[in-house]
Amino acid sequence: MPPAPQHFLPHTRVPSLLLPNSAAANRFVAREIDKLVRARNAAGKPTVLGLATGSTPVGLYRELIRLHEDEKLDFSKVITFNLDEYLPLPKEDPHSYFRWMHETFFNHVNIKWENIHIPDGTLKPDEIEDFCIEYERKIRAAGGIDIQILGIGRTGHIGFNEPGSPKNSRTRMITLDSITRRDAAAGFFGEENVPNQAITMGVASIMDARRVFLMAFGEHKAHCVTKAIELPPSEAVSASFLQEHPDAIFLLDPAAAAETTAIKRPWEVGPVEWTPERVRQAVVWLSLTVRKGLQKLNDDDFREHHLYELLREKGPAEKIGEEVFLDRLATIQPYPAGRLLCRKPFWSSRRTRTTT
Ligand code: F6R
Repeated sequence: MPPAPQHFLPHTRVPSLLLPNSAAANRFVAREIDKLVRARNAAGKPTVLGLATGSTPVGLYRELIRLHEDEKLDFSKVITFNLDEYLPLPKEDPHSYFRWMHETFFNHVNIKWENIHIPDGTLKPDEIEDFCIEYERKIRAAGGIDIQILGIGRTGHIGFNEPGSPKNSRTRMITLDSITRRDAAAGFFGEENVPNQAITMGVASIMDARRVFLMAFGEHKAHCVTKAIELPPSEAVSASFLQEHPDAIFLLDPAAAAETTAIKRPWEVGPVEWTPERVRQAVVWLSLTVRKGLQKLNDDDFREHHLYELLREKGPAEKIGEEVFLDRLATIQPYPAGRLLCRKPFWSSRRTRTTT
């Protein structure tokens, strides 16, 4: 099978690979894990994986299970640390990440139970701090995380590092953002059932991992992804700190990448071929941005919005605006149900009356 088309998006502050779909991203990350685990197994050494839950990594776990079943990928030396767990929540609760990880992944591969680490959602308030210190110590004792898998929340969180999480934060208890709780509501059969708090690995704990793969799929991730990869790093979007990681990659499907400059306004990040579709995309965008009708756009509007090349190639502005206007006009169907060619007078239609 030929390799699926993929390329790094230009103009991002962290390498961001655009893949044709989530399956391609899952295969990409699974291949990297596969290579590392086999190399470490051959050397008789453990591999330490940092794992995420949620909808994003499901396909990755399926692919890893497939590699285990079909290609004998051996997890017996793999050590895992999960990012987070809701608090308070018993392990056996249907919504616990403990249960989710076992049902989705651990029960299907030959990982040793003693090598699995997941923050404990059953801790009493006065036990939490010691547990978190111990969690960090266990990560260090295992040799540090080799590959960290991440999703991203709509608040831009990684793990449950909600906006305001400092760059030097470590494993700790956190209060969940209302957006995060709303996003989890369906799984918990109502927002009121979603716990208010969680234990999460911190930004610094994640940044310590040797390699980081953040996966984001779907249009609901487009805004937070764009902030994370295009704006300067800040506590407002904890995923943006990955820009400072020496080996972090974002893996995006087309919907998650849709708001990036490279996709939305590609003419701003390099030369483009002015195909009719691209001209239409640019001119409609310009008209919405400057809030003017297509036929009212002038040369300055184009010049001031990185569209000088378009103006030079196809201008003047009035001509381009008019062409796009006519093109759009041609798409309007005045009679969506089709025009009635021969309309019968109303009295000619026969009705059968039924009397009851
Ligand atoms: C889960 C985690 C979170 C999720 C994020 C995206 O362990 O750490 O950061 O990765 O909330 O969730 P999904 O994948 O469900 O969209």
